[in-house]
Amino acid sequence: MPEDFVFGSATSAYQIEGAAALDGKGESIWDRFTRKPGAIADGSNGDMACDHYHLYPRDIALMKEMGLSAYRFSLSWPRLLPEGSGRVNAAGADFYHRLIDALLKAGIEPFLTLYHWDLPQRLQDKGGWYNRDTAMRFADYAAEAAQLFGDRVKKWTTLNEPWTFCWWGHATGEDAPGLKDGVKGGVISSHHALLAHGLAVPLIRSEARGAEVGITLDVNVTEPATDRAEDIEAARRFDGAQNRWYLDAIFRGAYPEDMLDLYNPRLLPDIRPGDLAAISAPIDFLGINNYRRSVIRAGAELAPLSYERVSPEGSDYSALGWEIWPQAIEDILVHVHETYRPARIYVTENGMATAPEVPDARGRIEDVERVSYYVGYLEKVASAARRGVPVKGYFAWTLMDNFEWALGYTAPFGLVHVDFKTQERRLKWSGEVYGRIAREAVER
Ligand code: FCB
Repeated sequence: MPEDFVFGSATSAYQIEGAAALDGKGESIWDRFTRKPGAIADGSNGDMACDHYHLYPRDIALMKEMGLSAYRFSLSWPRLLPEGSGRVNAAGADFYHRLIDALLKAGIEPFLTLYHWDLPQRLQDKGGWYNRDTAMRFADYAAEAAQLFGDRVKKWTTLNEPWTFCWWGHATGEDAPGLKDGVKGGVISSHHALLAHGLAVPLIRSEARGAEVGITLDVNVTEPATDRAEDIEAARRFDGAQNRWYLDAIFRGAYPEDMLDLYNPRLLPDIRPGDLAAISAPIDFLGINNYRRSVIRAGAELAPLSYERVSPEGSDYSALGWEIWPQAIEDILVHVHETYRPARIYVTENGMATAPEVPDARGRIEDVERVSYYVGYLEKVASAARRGVPVKGYFAWTLMDNFEWALGYTAPFGLVHVDFKTQERRLKWSGEVYGRIAREAVER
């Protein structure tokens, strides 16, 4: 890897912090959604999660032990602003001050994400991402956070994966707030989320001197399952909804014409003059989350996108049924670089779920599959770097087993095993290997 490459791990607030109702934290849509019967596979929630709110020094010590040089985490918006805007919760601010200071002391660079899906419930009560005003509230929150932490945090990400939280939260409903409004829900929430991002960028820059500001998208190369015209068309629509809608808006200041035509007029959001100019505010880096490729054929999902995801025969799959296809990460890095030319790219998430794991007789977790996943994908990231992609870092998803959204605690992705009864942490074999790569794979 190039000289200035950073190796880190990633987490998000709701998935690890716990302390859901402690020290003045406000309710988030995930606190609410997890109470809905049947919403979460194992009926669990993030009330306690990894209790990172109290155990963060232990977690930082683990990162240091692995030799990681960066840590991507998110703020809980309702921990900082319990009502979503206005009053700052001093105890919440204090927690993040302590976390950031401890990271810096350990020589680990903080990469801060403002929104990793836990919208304040108070804003959801006013329409959430359907309400244009949420974009303004996000901009205020971003400015407040940048004022509080911008002296020490120099890498800022506005949103994590707008495609996922907009579409899974508002179109299909398997994530909070659980709305099943189809394509219209996905498109309207996406427009307001992108507007939130665009309004926040200049505010973060002016409050956090010298900071780099970006956004994380979950983009996937999309391949038609066959060369039939209808499958090629379906793959193009899917690529338009998941990838180009966000990339074109951010890097070109325009939504893709074919998607505007497809949504027109019934499914189009209220796009006002100036919105796309705000959304395309120049950014310093693009974060890419990638796990797999998308192989698509014509089908019945989300008309008029009308697609179906295909699991190609002969491939290996993770415990979640996600195809293990390392070439996907090189392909998407090269594609985004050649098409949109972001100044810098970070792989902000990549990793693999297994079935729940238990330590063996020697107390070890020898997660061979996860080790080979990381080695395979990292080789392809290195190959993209050699092909001229300005990829500056890689964050393993995730530091430790945690609350995996609608899957609860059934899908561990961690480099570190967590015993959720005792909160005991144990480095897995993948954590040892990843740490060794982090320490040795950079040319110095
Ligand atoms: C991503 C999310 C992250 C985690 C991984 C497995 O979509 O950003 O929080 O759920 O998937």
